[in-house]
Amino acid sequence: MTTNRIAIFDTTLRDGEQSPGCSMNLDEKLRMARQLEQLGVDVIEAGFPIASEGDFAAAQAVANACRQVTVAALCRTAEQDVARAAEALSGAAHPRIHTFVATSDIHLQHKLRKTRSEVLEMTRTSVRMARNFAEEVEFSAEDATRSDVDYLCEVFAAAVDEGATILNVPDTVGYTLPSEFATLVSTVRDRVVGEKAVTISVHCHNDLGLAVANSLAAIAAGARQVECTINGIGERAGNASLEELVMAMHVRSDQLSYEVNVNTRELYPTSQLLSEIIGFEVQPNKAIVGRNAFAHEAGIHQHGVINNPLCYEIMTPESVGVPSNSLVLGKHSGRHALGLRYEELGYPLEHGELDAAYGRFTELADRKKRIYDQDLLSLLSPEMKTRAEVPIMEAVQRARVSSYR
Ligand code: KIV
Ligand code: ZN
Repeated sequence: MTTNRIAIFDTTLRDGEQSPGCSMNLDEKLRMARQLEQLGVDVIEAGFPIASEGDFAAAQAVANACRQVTVAALCRTAEQDVARAAEALSGAAHPRIHTFVATSDIHLQHKLRKTRSEVLEMTRTSVRMARNFAEEVEFSAEDATRSDVDYLCEVFAAAVDEGATILNVPDTVGYTLPSEFATLVSTVRDRVVGEKAVTISVHCHNDLGLAVANSLAAIAAGARQVECTINGIGERAGNASLEELVMAMHVRSDQLSYEVNVNTRELYPTSQLLSEIIGFEVQPNKAIVGRNAFAHEAGIHQHGVINNPLCYEIMTPESVGVPSNSLVLGKHSGRHALGLRYEELGYPLEHGELDAAYGRFTELADRKKRIYDQDLLSLLSPEMKTRAEVPIMEAVQRARVSSYR
């Protein structure tokens, strides 16, 4: 029976960490892992233990520390890889060995230098060995979307035969399109999984900006695990962004009626923690967690948002853990937003006063990119200031030190 529960497999600490500028030390990985557990993900992929001593130690530490979630460790289809992953996971409450091999001809010929039958055998041996160490084994067919579909299904069937219960279909190079990917997932479901207790997982890269769309199309076609990362970090253009996937299912539950365990209010704090750890922010216009995701500058938008945020917001900032929306005061702002900010600063302006202040504000906004609260205060006439509810110094102190973002 198909369930509607979608497992969130977070690979921030493995695929994410693999990308340039995103490396983390053991303590940082542990902090991140604890936050991911708090967020409510189902699986944390903690690392690739054979890759380095550091990766091994971090995967082991995460496996020992995170008792509520499944902790996965990645390995190639090679004996020593599987053994190292198993060793790193030996203290885990819920371990999962994740073994992978490429199945596309281009990878077989130019990277692995193996025949199809050799790769098939490697899959069998590796999954069999992994099953001796862990109840739960996931098998990934790297570059699945550029693989011959008959061969892909043959390899997946062999993995299931040896005991894998999660089959991952990666779009390793971010090449596929939503409808095409949905067809591939349905094919794997019909030809390999059928009624078996096997979960189809997907792992999409974002080279064409389609990772989230492809993952959602795969879910509609029967995938029940999505692999993703916080802030969408990952190899090259990154992986499907966890926060986007989760919020798409949350906001559009009318169309996407799936159950996800994530506490959406932890999304922004998790994104912020990652940015702080790796030392770079997400792009300002990044969906859900970008600095501008809930910022409104255009006058018409600001007016609408002040009256009812739903005019221009499809989710509340609070629902993803962002403290509140922010009205950006700049040359596109209207008098409504300006009046509101003066009120917040302790200067409720009467109609004529607001008109006068607004005139001066637009002149200034034409000249200056960022308008600070201190600038707003300087636009007030002495009479307005005297009439004010709070003394000027108090207001200046209340003024945000930074700009309206
Ligand atoms: O992109 C990919 O194919 C991977 C696999 C190891 C799952 O990261
Ligand atoms: Zn990947």
